[in-house]
Amino acid sequence: SEVYLNGKWLKPDEAYVSVFDRAFMFGDGVYEVTPFYKGKAFKLKEHLKRLQYSLDQIQVTFDAFSLENLMYEALDRLNLNETDAAVYIQVSRGAAARSHFIPEKIETSILLYAFPVALEGFENKTWEVMATEDKRWHRCDIKSTALLANVMANEEAIAAGFAENLLVRKGYFTEGSHSSLFFVKYGVLHTHPEGPEILSGVTRAEVINICADLNIKVVEKAVHIDELVEVDEIFVTGTTTQIIPISSITHKNKKVYTARKDSITRKLQKVFIERTR
Ligand code: PDD
Repeated sequence: SEVYLNGKWLKPDEAYVSVFDRAFMFGDGVYEVTPFYKGKAFKLKEHLKRLQYSLDQIQVTFDAFSLENLMYEALDRLNLNETDAAVYIQVSRGAAARSHFIPEKIETSILLYAFPVALEGFENKTWEVMATEDKRWHRCDIKSTALLANVMANEEAIAAGFAENLLVRKGYFTEGSHSSLFFVKYGVLHTHPEGPEILSGVTRAEVINICADLNIKVVEKAVHIDELVEVDEIFVTGTTTQIIPISSITHKNKKVYTARKDSITRKLQKVFIERTR
């Protein structure tokens, strides 16, 4: 039994939630995905801290850090300590008769499980991507289970043969449908500032840390789609993505960017591998 649901360990086909669960009906829930490199957590505290932030923002009273032991138990139950894996955590506000009004007495619902994931060999990939309008809401800093806009953007890319969809709000790149986004312009890294327009990526934060150690300058400033002519390298980051260079961007059926270099991305990948392995 490997799926933790509200105090019980269940088999996947036994793990059910109420049809009145608010994460199911309203997307009224938040989540985290934390990577484990051969059993070794990477940035566990940062993931739990972000989960706590999401919970606080939607006013669900729950201690995210109380889940730490369950995460390791989830790995143990599937013998995922020798292989690469991730733990999914979902906290729903709970189940109640459908209403926009949140009842005073409602019990938080916790779902948690581990799954194997391929984390090796990301440095051998490059992604051809597309760019489209960012149609998400203005609280992308909350890691909400309501991911329909992200799923639709990703699917649009996949259907057109691209690996990811880079989202553009008022002409400025925010992030990918499921990844954070970096640009190298005149040797300086550019990434959208934290705030309601992006998810504050844990991998993004680590890339910024690595840059500080390597004396690579980072500015948290959004890049406009018209600035691509000045950009040499672009890469995306994420828990399962890690660090992947972008080879080209297609926007409105036109190729608007082709990678010119990859030296900074490669440097960052090298240090990232040392820190995760
Ligand atoms: N997604 N931005 C968005 C919109 C994301 O969905 C993700 C990750 C990131 C990268 O964040 P981090 O480095 O903390 O994983 C940025 C997760 C993995 C998912 O939804 O599966």
